[in-house]
Amino acid sequence: MLVLGIESSCDETAAAVVANGARICASVVASQVLTHEKYGGVVPELASREHLRAIEPVVDEACQRAEITLRDVDAVAVTEGPGLIGSLLVGLVYGKTLALSLGKPLVGVNHLEGHIHAVLLENKMDRAAGKPVGEAGLPAITLVVSGGHTSLFYVSAASTTTQQPAPQFHYRQLGQTRDDAAGEAFDKVAKLLALGYPGGPVIDKLSRFGNANSVDFGRIKMRGNPLDFSFSGLKTAVLYRVRGTELVREAEERRAWRRTVNKPTLDDLRARCSQATLDLIASFQQAVVQDLVERTLAAVESSNVANVFVTGGVACNSLLRRQFTDRCKDQGLPVFFPSPALSTDNAAMIAAAGYYKLLVGERAGVSLTAHASFPLGVEKTQRV
Ligand code: KG4
Ligand code: ZN
Repeated sequence: MLVLGIESSCDETAAAVVANGARICASVVASQVLTHEKYGGVVPELASREHLRAIEPVVDEACQRAEITLRDVDAVAVTEGPGLIGSLLVGLVYGKTLALSLGKPLVGVNHLEGHIHAVLLENKMDRAAGKPVGEAGLPAITLVVSGGHTSLFYVSAASTTTQQPAPQFHYRQLGQTRDDAAGEAFDKVAKLLALGYPGGPVIDKLSRFGNANSVDFGRIKMRGNPLDFSFSGLKTAVLYRVRGTELVREAEERRAWRRTVNKPTLDDLRARCSQATLDLIASFQQAVVQDLVERTLAAVESSNVANVFVTGGVACNSLLRRQFTDRCKDQGLPVFFPSPALSTDNAAMIAAAGYYKLLVGERAGVSLTAHASFPLGVEKTQRV
């Protein structure tokens, strides 16, 4: 079954063709980073306009790369939420119209569910390619950590009836951020220090030159659910370390310099960062990573689960990968990450998640619509 996936929840317009939820025939992602970088964050109105411009060429390119026409597609899967409403609507209306006009089944996918399926999809492809990787088995504790989300899920699968032996996936949210997402904190700290956008990748690279133990931010304390997250206090702690110091002037100089260069290299940027700045961001990164690892392992301990999945844009972070790998190895826990291209927003993960929904008979109709807020694995009575 060839599923065309469409994703437009934030600032990437993406389309992909995935065969049987297990093989990526094509995955195209049009990034809007150049549009938003001068603002240091995503501007929703600009994002919608960019999606409108990109959606048709991106879908066409996915079909071309997969060497198919739209008629060869067996079903369409679109992200229905959560995300920026204007952005979501572009992909959703486009996908819905395609499915209806082609007479093909349509299914809506939760963006977070897509990130979870990125792990399963990549693992299937690695195993099919004979790579020496273990099976990303379920149940698993999954950390979805990106620019918009930081949530822990208990993910399991059960076979449906014997007439239709397809896995039905179940998600239970164990915790989530109460304020900023981890990626958002990276982006805001990078904006404060004029390091560029998106902040995660640049802080990741520059932090290698800083001393991560130079600033002790302490552990992030949570009242109530210990599996919830909070990163706004840490972001403010960075602000307090910068305010009224030499680091402000340094950041302003960098901001002015950045306006004069098109694409600064990492070496250029590093040359314009004092050791104090490098130490500060390395310590900030370590505090974020430590918190993500600790809470995920606490979720593993309280649920008696043997597998850990880490996915979303921040899963690209090199320190995060290293610390998860080391800590899970110590505890004999298999840990799985998607490759960087599948960790950040893409449509292959939407097609893969949609495939399983289609297998168990889920279909969306003309009434399918976008939801800015769209919880996954939360009982209705628990929603606030
Ligand atoms: O999953 P994603 O593409 O979009 C959302 O669903 O939000 O994630 C984007 C986020 C951004 O905040 C970006 O700064 C962060 O992922 N990110 C990273 C790294 N690469 C991307 N954060 C830390 N380290 C990285 N290497
Ligand atoms: Zn995402």
